[in-house]
Amino acid sequence: MRECMSAEVPAKMLAHIDRVVKLAGAFGEKYDLNVSEIKLAAQGHDLFRALSEKELLYKAQNMDLDIDPVELSSPVLLHGPLAAIELKERFGIKDSQVLETIKWHTTGHPEFSLESWAMFIADKVEPNKIAKNSDLQIVFDIASDSLEKAALTYIDIRIDESLKLGLQIHPMSISTRNALLSKFDAISNK
Ligand SMILES: [Fe+2]
Ligand SMILES: [Fe+2]
Repeated sequence: MRECMSAEVPAKMLAHIDRVVKLAGAFGEKYDLNVSEIKLAAQGHDLFRALSEKELLYKAQNMDLDIDPVELSSPVLLHGPLAAIELKERFGIKDSQVLETIKWHTTGHPEFSLESWAMFIADKVEPNKIAKNSDLQIVFDIASDSLEKAALTYIDIRIDESLKLGLQIHPMSISTRNALLSKFDAISNK
């Protein structure tokens, strides 16, 4: 699939994808997860990340995608949902868990599996992301203990930033955060 994608994804983006595949695979091995599923999701996740806002909106309208108002004001949020559709239709990816991971890789999802979280966290803390933003080191560190705790920490960092900047927050980020908190509450109340 990398070869097929290289014709339409810029080299810089392919290099990011390569780093995510590598780190996501390492998380998968560490936690004894389905590594091939994780790597496939990582390989496909940013198929459309380099498209312009205009192109993303045009594709979303053409594909009859339900567009959330937050996505309308921040079309970059559409690159995961659009990639999931395209990878199914044009690249023949059938694994629904891989497609869901790709669809929601920007916000997370309440139903995410550990395989999905492995890909999600690797995307956020691959070496270049930490080099650009050292606040993300904590997410990387927590991932060596728990992928879900790392995910909650990452979502909190992003929500915090959005609040400070007065930006909208995708409802799926809030639902995901609530689901993770409920899960940790349930574990600590046992
Ligand atoms: Fe992405
Ligand atoms: Fe990415």
